[in-house]
Amino acid sequence: MLALSSAAAILFIAGAVTMHAATKISHADFGKMPDGTIIQIFTLTNAHGVEARIMNYGGTVVSLKTPDRTGAKGDVVLGFDSLEGYLAPEPYFGALIGRYGNRIGHAKFTLNGKEYTLPKNDGENTLHGGLRGFDKRVWTPRELRDGGLELTYLSKDGEEGFPGNLSVTVVYHLTDANELKIDYSATTDKDTVVNLTNHSYFNLKGAGLGDNLGHLMMLNADTFTPVDAGLIPTGELRPVDGTPFDFRKPTPIGSRIEQNDEQLKLGKGYDHNWVLNRKGTGLSLAARVEEPTTGRVMEVSTTEPGIQFYTGNFLDGTLKGKGGKVYGLRAAFCLETQHYPDSPNKPSFPSTVLKPGQTYRTTTVYKFLVNGRAFKMNPPPKKK
Ligand code: BGC
Repeated sequence: MLALSSAAAILFIAGAVTMHAATKISHADFGKMPDGTIIQIFTLTNAHGVEARIMNYGGTVVSLKTPDRTGAKGDVVLGFDSLEGYLAPEPYFGALIGRYGNRIGHAKFTLNGKEYTLPKNDGENTLHGGLRGFDKRVWTPRELRDGGLELTYLSKDGEEGFPGNLSVTVVYHLTDANELKIDYSATTDKDTVVNLTNHSYFNLKGAGLGDNLGHLMMLNADTFTPVDAGLIPTGELRPVDGTPFDFRKPTPIGSRIEQNDEQLKLGKGYDHNWVLNRKGTGLSLAARVEEPTTGRVMEVSTTEPGIQFYTGNFLDGTLKGKGGKVYGLRAAFCLETQHYPDSPNKPSFPSTVLKPGQTYRTTTVYKFLVNGRAFKMNPPPKKK
């Protein structure tokens, strides 16, 4: 009796804590940093054969293979075959972004009456955490027993101009529901600002297999934040109604991108933050993208208030990626879940301030489907 009930208890506990139990994780060396530090790449595989490869340099998603409607797997994110590609100048392919995702205007902000000056790496502004943001740092990896990958990084007080020692943890899980789930958390020992995201460049046809223009995009947002010539939000929340920024119904990315619209001209396409329609603080659907020729669908849910939809307007065919494929203009799109750009200088935007004793926590889930249906790969062999 005793034996039975403890077995039942173990089963119960196992069921409760191992949501991602079927995911397998393994690792291999991916390359060496100039100082000799070895970078590792982790392969997460779920029960349906979906595979995510993530390295601890930049916490970068290097590849993400999902099936199309015929079951053929394709890599849906841009990147490089080896570490060298990521060590050369490149536009944050797949990387974790911090301490502050997107731009801080005039490379400064004031917190508690003190002005902090940051490096300018985008004209007059600071983009994606400065000259050496979290995308260019070596994170400490740990394989979790549930098949997840934990990455930690300590960003020292004053690093890239930001105050406070910020202790950051990012956990990647690939679930059997075909979701790449990213949990971000951080604590600080001084008041600071934080805005973390992931900068994957998606093309659901397959990386390097053409442009993003035919993807049907849905963004769950009634307003967006228009920008000035430096791509800094003006502070206005502008209704999308009647503008090329209305993606409330699935619309091909390319159908209005060349319109004579002041905001599209400033962004050279879409490069803006949408203010998500959301209730409460939990995960809420932010975006849904469908690629009609392959049937691949991606749904993005997040706890964040905004999403930066960037259409790869600065890709120009000079970068050769995985398999020697050239990444031309609009070869991919990014959906960066985040707080709004330049929030530290915009008191009317949701706050990005983190104080000692508080824990920053956000979650984003990228879920993959085929024509709106869940898929199962590797079905058990049919009995003869
Ligand atoms: C920014 C773009 C930038 C891109 C790559 C996006 O988040 O909004 O302006 O070019 O990242 O750096």
